[in-house]
Amino acid sequence: MKGKFITLEGPDGSGKTTISLKIVDQLEKEGYRVLLTREPGGVEIAEQIRNVILNKENIKMDAKTEALLYAAARRQHLIEKVLPALEKGYIVICDRFVDSSLAYQGVGRNLGIDKVYQMNLFAIEDVMPDKTIFFDIDYQLGLNRIKKNHRESDRLDDASDDFHKKVYEGYLKICDQYSLSLIHI
Ligand code: TYD
Repeated sequence: MKGKFITLEGPDGSGKTTISLKIVDQLEKEGYRVLLTREPGGVEIAEQIRNVILNKENIKMDAKTEALLYAAARRQHLIEKVLPALEKGYIVICDRFVDSSLAYQGVGRNLGIDKVYQMNLFAIEDVMPDKTIFFDIDYQLGLNRIKKNHRESDRLDDASDDFHKKVYEGYLKICDQYSLSLIHI
């Protein structure tokens, strides 16, 4: 692959989106061709899946269904957008990728990090980021930011404090135990 694949990870409200714009700005000033994208979504089919996942009315959604839908959205986004850009030599910056599923579904929803990783392998076929930046912010602070900015909450934002605490702890576990190139900032 000619390009570089960089993913941004962290709890809700950790500032990934804001910082990603600055990273893109800087890289473009330095002459790189950059594609900024996000999960779940980034291409039409994945955006449709995103609407199903985050719709507040879908209170019946089973945890495994949720994990499969994220992986389906991931697959479509990867094939349609990320891989073609990497082939062309772009630096692809992606707001969330497979580590989000490990933290949110694997730990937050108790499905298990390894199980969720194995299931995702079918979707990503060994395409892993060259670098992952983890935004280490206390989950409470992140949730408060979302409230303060009056950003409309979604089904995941509305999950219990306990869920967000588990997600944060999940991220720390992934940093510690898995040999992913994570950077604390
Ligand atoms: P989004 O509005 O994009 O949140 P953020 O700006 O914090 O990234 O909503 C995405 C939500 O989906 C967010 O709460 C994290 C969650 N998520 C998962 O649970 N698993 C995943 O694999 C991904 C990609 C996201």
